[in-house]
Amino acid sequence: MRNRTHILIRTACLLCALWWLSAPAKATVKLVSGTTGAHIEINGQPMLLLGGELSNSAATSVADIQEVFPRMQALGLNTLLVPLQWDLTEPSEGRFDFTLLDTTVKAARECSMKVVFLWFGAWKNSMSCYAPAWFKADVKRFPRAVTAEGKPLEIASAFSEQVFRADSAAFTAVMRHIKDIDATQNTVVMMQIENEIGMLESARDHSTSAEKAYKKTVPSALLHSMGLKKKGSWADVFGQSDSGDEIFMAWHYAKYVERLAKTARAIHDIPLYVNAAMNSRGRKPGEYPSAGPLAHLMPVWKTAAPSVDLMAPDIYDTGFKNWAKQYATPNNPLFIPESRCCSNSGARALYVFGAYDAVGFSPFAIDNAAADAKPEIQKSYAALREAAPLLLSNKQGKAQKSWGVLFDQTDKDTLIADGETMLQCAHYFTLPWDPRATNGSTWREGGAIIKKLAEKDYLIIGSGVVITFLTNSEWEQKKPASQLGEDGFATAGSQQRAAEKQTKRFKGKRLGLASVEEVSVNDDGTTSRVRSFCGDETHQGRHVRISVDDYKVLRVKLYEYQ
Ligand code: DGJ
Repeated sequence: MRNRTHILIRTACLLCALWWLSAPAKATVKLVSGTTGAHIEINGQPMLLLGGELSNSAATSVADIQEVFPRMQALGLNTLLVPLQWDLTEPSEGRFDFTLLDTTVKAARECSMKVVFLWFGAWKNSMSCYAPAWFKADVKRFPRAVTAEGKPLEIASAFSEQVFRADSAAFTAVMRHIKDIDATQNTVVMMQIENEIGMLESARDHSTSAEKAYKKTVPSALLHSMGLKKKGSWADVFGQSDSGDEIFMAWHYAKYVERLAKTARAIHDIPLYVNAAMNSRGRKPGEYPSAGPLAHLMPVWKTAAPSVDLMAPDIYDTGFKNWAKQYATPNNPLFIPESRCCSNSGARALYVFGAYDAVGFSPFAIDNAAADAKPEIQKSYAALREAAPLLLSNKQGKAQKSWGVLFDQTDKDTLIADGETMLQCAHYFTLPWDPRATNGSTWREGGAIIKKLAEKDYLIIGSGVVITFLTNSEWEQKKPASQLGEDGFATAGSQQRAAEKQTKRFKGKRLGLASVEEVSVNDDGTTSRVRSFCGDETHQGRHVRISVDDYKVLRVKLYEYQ
């Protein structure tokens, strides 16, 4: 008898071991922070999300999805941001339809792409337009936010437990389904929770439950994160003001999102983020989608929603660099899920990966990209894919410096100091000989990633830029010299040249170009020459340049002379 039991146990153990060995290994997707930014890693392999977000109604049928993926693959994207609408996912309460989700994942796999799903749940651009009809119609069970004047808004109230439960039940079902179909492949690499959450028309919700919450004591964790000593109700601490109302709403929206995030992570642990519409054009809370994960509310959101990996800006307005900078902080890696899709998108992608080691970049409504935007995105993403082994090498332990530059007609140049080496970087059209520089048209933006590979050895992935390398002492002694024409002749006459003439004796060393090569980057991070640039292409050794409309990966080696 004892023997039989023994045999049974051994057989069971053997079967378990066989099952374990034959079961497909669970993949892991993580957001891994490096010294300067962060990247998505799938089974330890880092990737840059070269993305695009579909327009809101683009993937609402099987045919739509099948049509759009191959087109996006041809554009060079490796990741597509795809809306997942609550109303189409749960057409009647408790009955789920995952046809669109399944088709999206299948299409992505067929095109060797990754997917970020956008959960258009309780809120999309403040509103609750994507909530299913059964939810919308039952106002009693699912109350709306209300203005101070008592007007109900088509914004589900964040203070209603019933609203949360309905939204959460659907999001939970989505996460379970993704786990079921994707745990071993991880085609879905990140989830966006809701979309551009925020209050509009009124800075705060005045519904019955919201009013109750408003009278409660401000949580000490929030006071602590904001460095505030004063205790009391929301009105006591923040005053009855639009900005106080915004903080109150931000805390409760973030708490709501945190509950969704925690549940999602427990089911299928992949990175999560929340996006924000920018508070631009001098608007006050209530006049823009207020209380979302905005830069000035970052301490509120980070304290209330620690299970969310990052807060992401949707950048449509002018001042791209300024918005990006506000979101690239030590506790918030930069990911831009939406940005205006235009002919500047290619240069902007280079900038965010260079300046901030960004997680990813994604122009919005990529499926409708205009004719002048498409080639820019395609060429930029091709160059980024080419350089990826070197751009991602930081995450493999080799700390190398990198910079990003972005120029337009008013913000034309910058100086980068790398120890003793100065990199004078400018828009390509600061060279006056291209007719597009002076024909009155708006300059297309120029941008680049400059990555230092070793001493006097730089990789430049760029478009529309010119870079001159100088020693520090050369820079300090530099007079505002007259520009040289394309042929190397001075553009100014002898009188002006006499005024600019160097009067003191030149001291120190100068930097020259030892070699400039257009390169391809091999998987191991070594480079192979595609073409050697010299002569006219480097202005006879004076600078390195990449024309507007052109995208190149260059390797530049310098030498000193005296
Ligand atoms: C931002 C939203 O997040 C998108 O879904 C879309 O509505 C765009 N605005 C339109 O500009």
